[in-house]
Amino acid sequence: MTKINWLVATVLLLIACAPDTERFTLVADVPELMNSVLEPAAEFYWDAVGYILDENGVREIRPNTAEEWEAVRNAAFIIAESGNLLLMDGRVRDRGDWTALSEALIETGQQAIKAADLRDASAVFDAGAEVYYACANCHAKYAVETLRPNDVRSDTTSS
Ligand code: HEC
Repeated sequence: MTKINWLVATVLLLIACAPDTERFTLVADVPELMNSVLEPAAEFYWDAVGYILDENGVREIRPNTAEEWEAVRNAAFIIAESGNLLLMDGRVRDRGDWTALSEALIETGQQAIKAADLRDASAVFDAGAEVYYACANCHAKYAVETLRPNDVRSDTTSS
């Protein structure tokens, strides 16, 4: 290899090894990520299954059509991938608990995807609970004023 080729190879290697944070543009800060990305997806997932008690008795809510299941699955992907977004430079708070709690969100999001893949309403309900704990555990440490998101199942002020 000629000298100039070595130089090119070295420069390419340096580019490949350089941190590529400058290639990202953080559009949402953490509150915006929560309000505009994560919370709507989580609410959609939580609302997808459950029971409603009205004057006609108890009614089960669950996805029925292929499109409805796909929408639930899409929400689960947003939940899981949001864990990665929380780990990006500019959002990550530390490499300890924050990282572990973000990874927990990724894992529970993956469970949520699997439940939707199986089209199993009760698995979606259970995965929804795990997602809820992943949110609440992080808020308990990093956002005590938020503590818990608006999970309809735990919200006693709405019917
Ligand atoms: C790894 C940590 C972490 C996880 C996981 C997490 N959050 Fe948060 N969340 C935060 C932090 C930190 C704040 C406070 C943001 C601030 O004010 O800087 C917050 C705030 C919020 C807020 C209020 C935003 C505002 O306007 O201040 C909502 C709503 C919210 N989270 C929803 C959720 C939901 C829903 C989930 C789970 C599906 C979730 N969060 C999971 C860290 C997390």
